[in-house]
Amino acid sequence: MKVIPNIDAKRVPAHVAIIMDGNGRWASLMGKPRIFGHKNGVQSVRESLEAAVQAGVKCLTLYAFSTENWSRPAGEVNALMTLLVSTIRSEVDKLDEKGVQLKAIGDISKLPSKTHKALVEAIDRTKDNTKIQLVLALNYSGRWDISQASRKLSQYISENHLNPDQIEESMFSQFLSTAAFPELELLIRTSGEQRLSNFLLWESAYAELFFTDKFWPEFRKEDFFEAIMDFQKRERRFGKTGEQLKAVVR
Ligand code: IPE
Ligand code: IPE
Ligand code: MG
Repeated sequence: MKVIPNIDAKRVPAHVAIIMDGNGRWASLMGKPRIFGHKNGVQSVRESLEAAVQAGVKCLTLYAFSTENWSRPAGEVNALMTLLVSTIRSEVDKLDEKGVQLKAIGDISKLPSKTHKALVEAIDRTKDNTKIQLVLALNYSGRWDISQASRKLSQYISENHLNPDQIEESMFSQFLSTAAFPELELLIRTSGEQRLSNFLLWESAYAELFFTDKFWPEFRKEDFFEAIMDFQKRERRFGKTGEQLKAVVR
């Protein structure tokens, strides 16, 4: 693996998630329609994935379409869904070659049938790959996930597999769509906005947050590495004191 200067290979976050924001504003600045921004965001996805593989990240989750994004003008929603189909189809060979396992979270059954088909085919095609998991959050929101997990858990209880007072955090997590992925450690958002917009609400409980003013189509490999370097400078205390952590290291 290529050595990346200033990144400590032993402290690379296992799971990084990105709120890819700012496509529309970037396009407007260029005097172009919003979809131009979405199209140019594809290169940023390629670069982030490449950087994640190089750094040794095991799981990269990308917020591609939120449950709230259905409220956008129909023309933009359709263009995004079409872009997804063409991107998945054109990238799947490369993803497979590189050992990427494609996954999705969100209620993908509500996606247009062409988008759903392209996605499911690519997921199936790459299912045995082990280098990195690339998770697309599509028709996803954190509250949706917590609600659907609660529904499944209630069903489980009603079938007498479980007693309500046995419910614990670790068990609840097993019902979330992210159950099979490593703990989220770093969450990046582009475009200067500093909010979660209903993304990975449960999972971001102790994630480090990294915000950049760059719009998503401007985001490059170096920006991904910068976020990892910033992550590595932080002291992750998980409720303890800094002194306690130093005592463990000694
Ligand atoms: C993020 O960019 C892409 C999606 C939400 C699909 P936006 O489309 O939100 O761009 P801005 O935030 O309006 O600039
Ligand atoms: C969040 O971006 C959703 C995605 C990146 C897919 P939005 O642009 O939709 O978020 P808000 O509406 O500004 O919070
Ligand atoms: Mg936005």
